[in-house]
Amino acid sequence: GLAEVPGALILLKNVPAALATYCEDTMVDVTKWPMFSLMGPQELASIRKACVFGSSANEAIYITNDDEVFVFGLNCSNCLGTGDSLSTIVPKKLDFLSGRKVVSLTYGSGPHILLATEDGELFAWGHNGYSQLGNGTTNQGVAPVLVSANLLNKKVTEVACGSHHSMALTDTGEVYAWGYNNCGQVGSGSTANQPTPRRVSSCLQNKVAVSIVCGQTSSLAVVDNGEVYGWGYNGNGQLGLGNNGNQLTPCRLVGLQGLCVQQIVSGYAHSMALTDEGLLYAWGANTYGQLGTGNKSNQLSPVQILTEKERIVEIASCHSTHTSAAKTQSGQVYMWGQCRGQSIVLPHLTHFACTDDVFACFATPSVMWRLLSVEHDDFLTVAQSLKKEFDNPETADLKFCVDGKYIYVHKAVLKIRCEHFRSMFQSHWNEDMKEVIEIDQFSYPVYRSFLEFLYTDSVELPPEDAIGLLDLATSYCENRLKRLCQHIIKRGIIVENAFSLLSAAVRYDAEKRKLSQSCV
Ligand SMILES: *[C@@H]1O[C@H](CO)[C@@H](O)[C@H](O)[C@H]1NC(C)=O
Ligand SMILES: *[C@@H]1O[C@H](CO)[C@@H](O)[C@H](O)[C@H]1NC(C)=O
Ligand SMILES: *[C@@H]1O[C@H](CO)[C@@H](O)[C@H](O)[C@H]1NC(C)=O
Repeated sequence: GLAEVPGALILLKNVPAALATYCEDTMVDVTKWPMFSLMGPQELASIRKACVFGSSANEAIYITNDDEVFVFGLNCSNCLGTGDSLSTIVPKKLDFLSGRKVVSLTYGSGPHILLATEDGELFAWGHNGYSQLGNGTTNQGVAPVLVSANLLNKKVTEVACGSHHSMALTDTGEVYAWGYNNCGQVGSGSTANQPTPRRVSSCLQNKVAVSIVCGQTSSLAVVDNGEVYGWGYNGNGQLGLGNNGNQLTPCRLVGLQGLCVQQIVSGYAHSMALTDEGLLYAWGANTYGQLGTGNKSNQLSPVQILTEKERIVEIASCHSTHTSAAKTQSGQVYMWGQCRGQSIVLPHLTHFACTDDVFACFATPSVMWRLLSVEHDDFLTVAQSLKKEFDNPETADLKFCVDGKYIYVHKAVLKIRCEHFRSMFQSHWNEDMKEVIEIDQFSYPVYRSFLEFLYTDSVELPPEDAIGLLDLATSYCENRLKRLCQHIIKRGIIVENAFSLLSAAVRYDAEKRKLSQSCV
């Protein structure tokens, strides 16, 4: 009860609701997953939800602000659902799912994908060797199929996948399971594979489930009074029942008696529960230290971990990894278990802002442990703000006149970014002397690109103009800009301009030594 943890209670009381909400906001960046690093800013800005999956994290699905569903990556077991069985490095739209609002999405190891929409419809595709798509066959699902058997008139709100079994939770708190059942993970009382969704009943029959998760071959559900039930494989104690016998039907975790569980997660063979008081319990396999107990002994019953720390607000794990993570109320993120090949047996404090980043950077494979929600806000970084202010007459305090056209800049920026301007403004600069500087030795596009480079670090110019900019960069001793220009020129060489570009490049190259000496 609360009385046993005065520390947690005080913390809870002292944090105003608004602040707590503020603390839950996470800054997620999908480009932390290499799959997304090819995307440009516009494409990235269109992403609202994303999931990276697959045995080597080589597959990805994302949902845009307009509710379009895109997939890309390796076409293992047709898990992209594009219908053409092709791998793709360029995202492809799943037209069939266009406009359907996705509320839950998860993946198995085959991989197979389960997706639930706002209307409560359930779609599945990918590996189906164990009937994990739930449509009665074992044919691979090359494109999304509506899973309807036994779910007609039911509204699915949440989905969960083990390696090869599937689960769905309905809005009335019923749990359905199907697919691979070698250890009872479908909860049907037998070990026969289950070809279509079947309600998990026995002692869950009259309970209202509020959350479901799967380990590799085990299943867990939280019911509305905070109790946890488990079934399926239990060889490592992942059901937390105090023994290691498999369970063909749901069993209540008596080790969590008296606690009100708010979140459960499962790794490959371990499980964790977070209570309403922010306490964290772990049990099951511990070969990689994934329980965070300080040793590598499996635990057949829940043990409390991170006891000395403040209130925990989120825990993370997923069935294809041995990695664990947790976030505290003040936003500190801990990780343990298998982390880039090492076994971290005690929770390790990181500098990550969210548990998702632990999986992007340290899990094997570096999949997402949940369907990631991406928040886009109007915040501009320093770099973005500077870029925006270039050539803005409203904030500028200096202008250049080139070919009769003005370019508006900020003295401070030029001084900070370019040695040439620093010495120019420091030595013979008289404040009220000038607010316009005339430039006649360079063209407008060249000089503008140069000034823009000082605000943005980048250059966009046709190769012909890049020669002029190379000249300017050389005389102002801007070495990085020189290299960018050389790169543009080399990339831009085609038969028609080869001669003029090459002779210019050779000319600058010949002068390089002499000039770089004067730049020291
Ligand atoms: C896509 O996956 C299917 C099933 O695994 C396979 O038969 C096919 O060769 C794959 N195609 C490509 C281009 O990877
Ligand atoms: C089940 O899905 C598979 C794979 O898409 C398909 O071949 C089969 O026709 C479907 N069966 C039914 C009964 O819908
Ligand atoms: C491992 O840690 C747990 C939790 O602290 C403890 O109960 C158990 O005795 C330890 N096992 C060994 C072998 O030290």
